[in-house]
Amino acid sequence: MIHSNITVSDDGHLCFAGRDTVQLAEKYGTPLMLIDEDRVRERASTYVAAMREYFGEGSAPLYASKALSCVAMYKIVGSEGMSVDVVSSGELYTALKAGFPAERIYFHGNNKTADDVRYGLDSRIGYFVADNLDEVERISVMAGERGMTQPILLRLTPGIDPHTNEKISTGKVDSKFGTAIETGQAEQLIARVLTMPGIKLCGFHCHVGSQVFDQYPFCDAADIMIDFMAHIEQSLGYRAEILNLGGGFGVRYVDSDPYIDIRDTIRLIAEHINNRCAEHGMPVPRILMEPGRSIVADSGMTVYTVGSVKTIAGYKSYVAIDGGMTDNPRYTLYGSKYTVYNASRADAPADFKCTVAGRCCESGDLIAEGVSVARPQSGDKLAVAVTGAYNYSMASNYNRVPRPPIVALRGGADRVIVRRETYADMVACDIDE
Ligand code: LLP
Repeated sequence: MIHSNITVSDDGHLCFAGRDTVQLAEKYGTPLMLIDEDRVRERASTYVAAMREYFGEGSAPLYASKALSCVAMYKIVGSEGMSVDVVSSGELYTALKAGFPAERIYFHGNNKTADDVRYGLDSRIGYFVADNLDEVERISVMAGERGMTQPILLRLTPGIDPHTNEKISTGKVDSKFGTAIETGQAEQLIARVLTMPGIKLCGFHCHVGSQVFDQYPFCDAADIMIDFMAHIEQSLGYRAEILNLGGGFGVRYVDSDPYIDIRDTIRLIAEHINNRCAEHGMPVPRILMEPGRSIVADSGMTVYTVGSVKTIAGYKSYVAIDGGMTDNPRYTLYGSKYTVYNASRADAPADFKCTVAGRCCESGDLIAEGVSVARPQSGDKLAVAVTGAYNYSMASNYNRVPRPPIVALRGGADRVIVRRETYADMVACDIDE
């Protein structure tokens, strides 16, 4: 099994977080998204403890809530001591609805609208992570109008290529995110920001990309950022208190993916940063990180019901499920690989090679191609592992397919944290004149 929270019961059913997925599918219907809450909590607390231990008090992980944003998730990570990163007013609204402390919220995004800035300021969020000059000016003016001084970080691009999928690589100079160090524009921006009213510059942010499996891209990015911070202290007399290294720790989707030890990797990054700061004779800044995927991805599993099994003679076999790109668009978007199990026959040999197809009117609506599962029959439950991050949060209603519910599993108990969407939900915004 791809992760330790996936096991097989005596009657051959796939279990997730110790629970029989076939029974859960019967109880809640399919498609069904399961979240192993104990594992989410364990991941969150590992980050909190490791960052405190290796980077010191004041350093903290922020949950990148784009990975899975719902009221319960903010409550869960908040109670484990994480702060959060939101990238839209919608995520901010959800976090506040969950009672998340506003001062522990960081507002990201490469184009915050005036409404976003207003909402963030009026909610008294902790920090904006500002992307560019236009945005900083907007925050400065609007904070000034309110007689406030808003703490901000500046998102900079360190010019690092983490060698991950192009679409999830963001730290390069040619990126829609942030302001480039290499071109001199970051320094010019800082010089301007330091003169602006209504804002307090607290430090810098960078994010190299996602699905990174070792410390090196983080250390490379930290080198560039720390060298730059030392340079800015000399050239502009400004010392940053905070360095935010973004998210990106990789997660194992299939057996061939590596495994990253969160604690060890944080320790290695910390050692590297401490040395680099010592070389510059500068104090180690407060370090922030923004894990999303590594908090929640392998805490997720999606369970479907097989509708049909179709073998095209001389070609291949399609297994059609009652979900697809509407609840998991990642194969369609990125060709992402997944591990698939026949949850009803998890003890049988996985020797049936097939393509798992969704039910949208779209040939590209596939979840996995060329995977091997125990030969399924119509009615069997099929489970796709490691669907906790960027599945529900990127789900859509294409073909007016309702989004699945999310059921959290904790200590042997199950509870619905997001209910299944209804057809009525889908026409809720339609004007029926
Ligand atoms: N911080 C910033 C500024 C980010 O842009 C991201 C991800 C994160 C943190 C969290 O990164 P993580 O720890 O989750 O790798 N939809 C894509 C992933 C897009 C990630 C965008 N930014 C996917 O499904 O793979």
